Amino acid sequence: MIKLSPSILAADFTRLGEEIKILEKEKIPYIHIDVMDGHFVHNISMGIPVIESIRKTTSLVLDVHLMISNPEEYIEKFAKAGADIINFHFEAVDNSKRIINQVRATGKKCGITINPETPVEKLFGIIEYVDMVLIMSVYPGLGGQEFMVSSLDRIRKVYDYIKKNNLNTDIEIDGGVGLENIRDILEAGVNVVVAGSAIFGAKDISADIKKFNEIFKEFDYK
Ligand code: DX5
Ligand code: ZN
Repeated sequence: MIKLSPSILAADFTRLGEEIKILEKEKIPYIHIDVMDGHFVHNISMGIPVIESIRKTTSLVLDVHLMISNPEEYIEKFAKAGADIINFHFEAVDNSKRIINQVRATGKKCGITINPETPVEKLFGIIEYVDMVLIMSVYPGLGGQEFMVSSLDRIRKVYDYIKKNNLNTDIEIDGGVGLENIRDILEAGVNVVVAGSAIFGAKDISADIKKFNEIFKEFDYK
């Protein structure tokens, strides 16, 4: 089952509750929440209080993407705030397995995120321990960037590794995803799709979600 995870970074924050209601109406499974600390990435976005508020208004799965240094200091806090999936960056830590264990101890799902310039082979041997691999298809820190086509090959490598090792790890893609490139992305092996501008920048959010869902149906055999 392919899942859409709209990134609220592109939402209208003055109407966030209403926009989340649209996602619910369209039966979207996940909400992608981009946390930026101004240190691991240049920008500062949102944090724990925003997640707590969203948690109160929805039961959708909160897919939290931590673009922060020292994630180990915050895992429990994000879990308590209501995150369901906690994604940390491979580049932000020295010992991925320690962070994975820390997330596991909270009872939440764990994802590991990889930047475009980091070879995906570095995750081989770690993928076994996570629920999800989040492949960045733009440099993290900003919405609305162009999709890096080189990501397709990276997705294929991770997909092959997962299949070869009989795992059922999710592969999530994040950055520059739209209706024009989604087929290539799904073909490569992605099953969780983050989209910010393509959803919240649309004139009619519901209509765009429906278009994504139609395309997803073509790939649901995967
Ligand atoms: C970038 C974020 C993305 C971003 C995607 O650092 O991780 O989730 O919001 O936005 P779009 O879909 O507009 O590229
Ligand atoms: Zn993200």
